[in-house]
Amino acid sequence: MAAAVFVTRSIPGAARALLEAAADVRAWDREEPPVPRDVLRAAVAEADGLYCLLTDAIDADLLAAAPRLRVVSTMAVGYDNVDVAACTRRGIPVCNTPGVLTEATADLAFALLMATARRVPEAERYLRDGRWRTWSPLLLAGQDVHGKSIGIVGAGRIGQAVGARARGFGMEVLYTARSPKPAFEAGCRARRCASLDELLGAADYVSLHAPLTPETHHMIGEAELRRMKPTAVLVNTARGPLVDEPALVRALAEGWIWAAGLDVFEREPVTPDHPLLRLPNVVTLPHIGSATVATRTAMAVLAAENLVAVLQGRRPAACVNPEVLGG
Ligand code: DGY
Repeated sequence: MAAAVFVTRSIPGAARALLEAAADVRAWDREEPPVPRDVLRAAVAEADGLYCLLTDAIDADLLAAAPRLRVVSTMAVGYDNVDVAACTRRGIPVCNTPGVLTEATADLAFALLMATARRVPEAERYLRDGRWRTWSPLLLAGQDVHGKSIGIVGAGRIGQAVGARARGFGMEVLYTARSPKPAFEAGCRARRCASLDELLGAADYVSLHAPLTPETHHMIGEAELRRMKPTAVLVNTARGPLVDEPALVRALAEGWIWAAGLDVFEREPVTPDHPLLRLPNVVTLPHIGSATVATRTAMAVLAAENLVAVLQGRRPAACVNPEVLGG
């Protein structure tokens, strides 16, 4: 009997075809809304494999409803939506999609940095609203990017790729990471800061690239925002809960920092009445860091390959709890 796989959203055809070649596939075949919890709970009761997105909470309660489950494969590099410890206790591998989204996400982080620094969306609204009457010396003046310093918080793959872009713009690159990154230091003349505090006090731009864990939750709060320069720009393309949003609202409204570029929020989707969206010095995007056709397709295919590998008794290319794979 073919293994049963449940897919929580409509996914690119190439990934779907890979799954269908190896398993009996059922899916919540829609772009939106996300699969309702009761549908997901009922579906996993019969599933050997679960193909999910970052919008699905794969927690102990769901796992308890999935007696046959042998693999969870998420179409994302971040896996804070999955209770990995609970999966590990059940011997269930959790697979993700590192690597294939690095460059696209770094491109978007840098685009957001530039757009925020140079007030690009605000300037476009100004023009489209018919408010452009004349050229003036400080009209819509932003912050320089070239020659400034960037602090990369979490110099993993994406953080380092942002650093490489910054270097190309003649920026000084600072970083924090659990361990030194000699190749990054050599390639981008990056300097590791002794602490987050040191980085926050020194950087003109602070770009977050840490995974969301209990330790990194609200790692940027009032004390950290007050440590930053009043001309500094905060960019977050990682996970919203890294930042304490009420503290960020005050920081931006009261001028502790100059602006923020945000692709992610504590609760997604963010509603249009969110206080951050009312501030002129915030540039916002709807969590599109990796959203190019090629990258999202590569992520979808890798997630499918990972899932099929586990079902077929092979080692998946990416697994966050490899201790359950044995051998
Ligand atoms: C991820 O993969 O974790 C991103 O947030 C979506 O690309």
